[in-house]
Amino acid sequence: MEFALDDELLALQDTARRFTEEEVIPIAAEFDRSGDFPRSVIKKAWELGLSSTCIPPEHGGLGLSILGSCVIVEEIARGCGGITTSVMCNDLGLSPILVGGNEGQRKEWLGLCADEFKLISFCLSEPGAGSDVAGLQMSAEKDGNDYVLNGTKAWITNGGEADLYTVFATLDRSSRHKGLCAFVVPRDTPGLEPGKKEDKLGQRASDTRLVHFDGVRVPAAQRLGEEGQGFRIAMETLDRTRPMIGALAVGIARRALDECLAYTRERKAFGSAIAEFQAVQFMLADMAKDIEASRLLTQQCAWMIDEGMRASKQSSMAKCFATDAAMKATIDAVQIFGGNGYTKEYPVEKLMRDAKLMQIYEGTNQIQRVVIARELLGG
Ligand code: CAA
Repeated sequence: MEFALDDELLALQDTARRFTEEEVIPIAAEFDRSGDFPRSVIKKAWELGLSSTCIPPEHGGLGLSILGSCVIVEEIARGCGGITTSVMCNDLGLSPILVGGNEGQRKEWLGLCADEFKLISFCLSEPGAGSDVAGLQMSAEKDGNDYVLNGTKAWITNGGEADLYTVFATLDRSSRHKGLCAFVVPRDTPGLEPGKKEDKLGQRASDTRLVHFDGVRVPAAQRLGEEGQGFRIAMETLDRTRPMIGALAVGIARRALDECLAYTRERKAFGSAIAEFQAVQFMLADMAKDIEASRLLTQQCAWMIDEGMRASKQSSMAKCFATDAAMKATIDAVQIFGGNGYTKEYPVEKLMRDAKLMQIYEGTNQIQRVVIARELLGG
């Protein structure tokens, strides 16, 4: 059993660490305040090979493993959860093409995203269907050699900034999951219109929106997989990307611990540094052990996927465990900082706000428990 990262991953980790120190940390608070989209920073990440990492070498990409993506994501998340979500959103958006696309589609769309800086959004959730994917309402009506898409997608990361959208719609609502299809839709397709940008609690540097599809005509050549395979493509995509959310959580929790270690050594109460108090030490110890456990679970899951194993259960475990741990770590960090922690003068309140979203997106942590329990019970 080998737990060490190889030289290639260590070099990648170093690149991601320097990018985070130089490009992300200095601007994170400002973009959190303004809610603006840091496009130039995301582009820099792409130029350094830190985004769209899943594109295989035969299509001009790095073909990085899921483990490699987790290493990158953990580092950038130390700098800003919102910027990390925007950087890794490309891998989420591209994964349906990897999972369900034929050779021609992979060559066309993955090749395009390897050659040029593009943002890709994954359009699954709807205002009335977040957890219940099989219940989504957006229609895909067959018309000759085309499909016509009508409906609205919700909480779409990079929804107003993307050049390309991978979109899930149903041919027949009564067929539930068996009716779903997946499509690639370029931004300039008539009828596709990004809607209202959400004013979020945390991860404010990521662009989260409604996206409207009003009579959007898509050639059959842009359908991924066969008719009815959309649900499987969505699930297999999420199996691949949930460990990255686990890694994002590890990065945020690590930052919380780092901030707390520095603060508790400086801050004095009752005549000594608060790091001397066991009540504080126990919180620090819990953070440290949960970070290690989260990373192990996340990287084991990534390794399983890279080895070609089915990893739905581990993927849900990694996402659920790591994001719950990061939530606890960041709440405790605010507690340790006391009144200071509740102000925007210190970085820990942002970590707490950013952490909350991770328990909700890419499947709520209640849905992760559903997946785990079903696998346990063989359902
Ligand atoms: N891989 C392959 N096949 C799978 C699968 C998987 N991981 N999971 C299920 N399937 C198959 C099942 O075997 C079943 O196959 P059959 O047709 O042969 O029976 C079929 O798919 C239906 O499966 P279920 O009966 O389990 O389906 P369900 O309707 O009960 O739903 C669910 C399951 C786990 C709740 C699923 O709907 C789910 O994961 N929901 C959460 C959705 C989610 O994560 N959304 C996040 C959106 S993305 C986002 O947040 C990103 C962003 O931009 C911020």
